Amino acid sequence: MKPIIVYYSYSGITRRLAEDIALITDGDLRELQPQQPYSFSYNTAVKEVREEIEKGYCPPLMRGAEAIGNAEVIFVGSPNWLKTFAPPVRSFLRTVDLDGKTIIPFCTHGGGGFGRMIEDYKRECEHSIIKDGIALKGDYSFDELKAWLDHNL
Ligand SMILES: Cc1cc2nc3c(=O)[nH]c(=O)nc-3n(C[C@H](O)[C@H](O)[C@H](O)COP(=O)(O)O)c2cc1C
Repeated sequence: MKPIIVYYSYSGITRRLAEDIALITDGDLRELQPQQPYSFSYNTAVKEVREEIEKGYCPPLMRGAEAIGNAEVIFVGSPNWLKTFAPPVRSFLRTVDLDGKTIIPFCTHGGGGFGRMIEDYKRECEHSIIKDGIALKGDYSFDELKAWLDHNL
């Protein structure tokens, strides 16, 4: 059964990682799009995001909240935003039934790795199996990613 690679990306780095994972695993890509996109201005976006994360807000999704079906392995990816996943990922986790599924988190970051993302996945998805996953900076190499996937899948 093909994995599904679900991701949110603001500036494209996590999208590239998601596309590489899909290429290597022959998985199906699913991009999460909030109905209301974040500001193009980085500083305004940081303010918007901080407020949403502090409130635990789940922005409604325009795309990506469809049921998962038979896939057993779901890669879920996000940029590290203030040490956790982006709010659209929280919306996905709360909307779509992931009970019994294996979740492999992935993220891109500016130096903070996963932050507290793995704990947050475990809290949101109590009935899923959360694997260790992979956190990479934007300058990761395709070979490094492939080696990790070959070893961990
Ligand atoms: C609102 C915001 C908050 C961020 N917070 C963090 C952080 O806490 N730790 C970190 O390492 N990087 C942080 N970053 C950097 C991003 O995680 C990093 O640039 C990521 O690769 C961007 O992925 P994207 O292009 O898919 O959006 C933040 C970026 C933004 C826009």
